[in-house]
Parts: sequence; C-alpha cells; structure tokens
Amino acid sequence: MHHALRIEQLNKHFANGKHALNNINLTVAQGEMVALIGASGSGKSTLMRHMAGLVSADAGPGSLIEVDGCCVQQGGRVHRNIRQVRARIGFVFQQFNLVDRLPVQVNVLVGLLHRMPLWRGLLRWFTEQERAQAIEALQRVGIAECHAQRASTLSGGQQQRAAIARTLVQGAKVVLADEPIASLDPESSRKVMEILARINREDRCTVIVSLHQVDMALKYCPRVVALNQGCVVYDGPASALTPDLLRELYGVQADEILADAQRPATSPVLVPSAPWGSPVAQTA
Ligand SMILES: Nc1ncnc2c1ncn2[C@@H]1O[C@H](COP(=O)(O)OP(=O)(O)OP(=O)(O)O)[C@@H](O)[C@H]1O
Ligand SMILES: [Mg+2]
Repeated sequence: MHHALRIEQLNKHFANGKHALNNINLTVAQGEMVALIGASGSGKSTLMRHMAGLVSADAGPGSLIEVDGCCVQQGGRVHRNIRQVRARIGFVFQQFNLVDRLPVQVNVLVGLLHRMPLWRGLLRWFTEQERAQAIEALQRVGIAECHAQRASTLSGGQQQRAAIARTLVQGAKVVLADEPIASLDPESSRKVMEILARINREDRCTVIVSLHQVDMALKYCPRVVALNQGCVVYDGPASALTPDLLRELYGVQADEILADAQRPATSPVLVPSAPWGSPVAQTA
C-alpha cells in the first residue's frame, strides 16, 4: 500500500537566499493524524505549500513529493497532472478560504468542481443528490442550519467547519490544514480539532495539521513532526514530546510554542494530561 505522503530530500531556497526547508524526509501512512509544529518562521506553511504543489522545491535529483501515491513534484518540478493530484487533497487554511458572497452550501459544493464539467460549475448547477450530500457534510460538522447563509455571515469557527465540510464532499484522501485554529477562540478551536479528528477516525482520511502551539497537537495528534529553521528536529509520538525535550529542541523559542499551555486556564483547551499543564489549568 502506498503512503499518504512521501517526501524525500526536499530543499527550498527562496530567491532572497533564505534556506526555508532543509533536507526534509518524511513519510505519513494512510489514516494517520500528524501535527506539524514549530515557531513562527520555522517552515510549516512553506512545507505544506510544497505538499500541495503550490511551490516548487530546489532542483535536485532525489527531491520528491508524493501524495496518495501520486507525484506532486520531483526534482524541483511540479508534476504536469498536479490538478488531478490536488483533487485528492482537501485544504483548510487559517483564513477559511470560502467565497464570502456565496451561500455556505454552494461553498461546500465547490468541493465537487474538480469532478464535473466546467459549465455546470460555472452555472452553479448541482443535482439534488449533490445538494443533499452537501447538507449531510454540513450536518457532520454541526452547521447544517447555516446552509443558506452567505459564508461571510458565519463566525470564524463555523467558516472553518464549512471548509472541512467541503473537503468531505470532495472525498479528499489527505487533508492539509495550515493553522486552521490560529484565528479562533478556544471553544471553536476545540470543535474544529474534534471534527478533524473525527474525519480522520471515521473516514480514514489522513490529516496533516500545522499548529502554532503545542498543546492542541498533543491532545489530538498521535504523531508530531517538529520543525525548527526548516529542519525536522523531532518526528515521533506526541506522548514523548515533553516540555524538557521541547526546550532542548527549541531553546529560547520553546516559550513561544509552549505559550498556550502556560496561559491561565480560561478555557477547556488545555488537556489535564498534557505533561506541562500548568497547575492553574489542572485545578480548573
Ligand atoms: N516567498 C518567500 N520568499 C522569501 N522568504 C520566504 C517566502 N516564503 C516564506 N519565506 C521565509 O521562509 C521561512 C518559513 O516561513 P513559513 O511561512 O513557512 O513559516 P511558518 O512556520 O509557517 O510560520 P508561521 O507560524 O508564522 O505561519 C520564513 O523565514 C519566511 O520568512
Ligand atoms: Mg505559517
């Protein structure tokens, strides 16, 4: 069986000379839920953009990215069938990426566009069955009652759930979520992470989610990949990633990615079992 994701010898220098990704080698099996963590500027978004074939890596004979067994890019060149590969990937971004003025249901149906003839997409013409499929996906993420509203009228958390519903309708094999909860309040963050965990569990969808702070990664993702300055500095079980190890990996930057875990317990985000749950949080 092929991997959900295979990355070999991936390097990226930007035009300004910045070495943003430094010899990344990473494989993710089908059905895994993996957190990508790291301080700001460590390369999380850059790596995800490479996975999606939105950016080409440095030329290099061994450089390779495959998603769901299909080549995204090789030797620094994005594959010519990238659109077909992208149809297998669901994207969820920090800034929701919905079409504001369209109803939520239509936004979700956009997940089907890669499968239908262009004219149908342009006319926004969908079958009853497709519309029902969109409502079902919205039900699964808990916002079916909002289906007729314009996307711009939803809260951030609801918009993010609509974006996840779109990946469900799309039938994505791999979901790439780049900081999906960075703009959300704690309760919405929890809901979005729970939905991602559910589609991972129930649909066997592989989920790769970048998170700025580490407490959410530990709560929801069995495996964590940590980046620092474009290098993978940790790849292993979340359970082994203790605060001490993080401080070893990140030095002074550790405070940035541990910040949430040390905040007073104003929210249910913290996991009591998190190895560094602050005493305040544990008594809450
Ligand atoms: N187009 C670009 N040109 C030059 N440098 C870039 C470009 N895109 C990203 N970088 C640099 O690459 C590094 C990695 O950036 P990236 O956005 O991947 O970090 P990140 O881990 O996603 O950070 P954040 O947590 O703030 O989202 C940064 O130093 C950034 O300034
Ligand atoms: Mg980023």
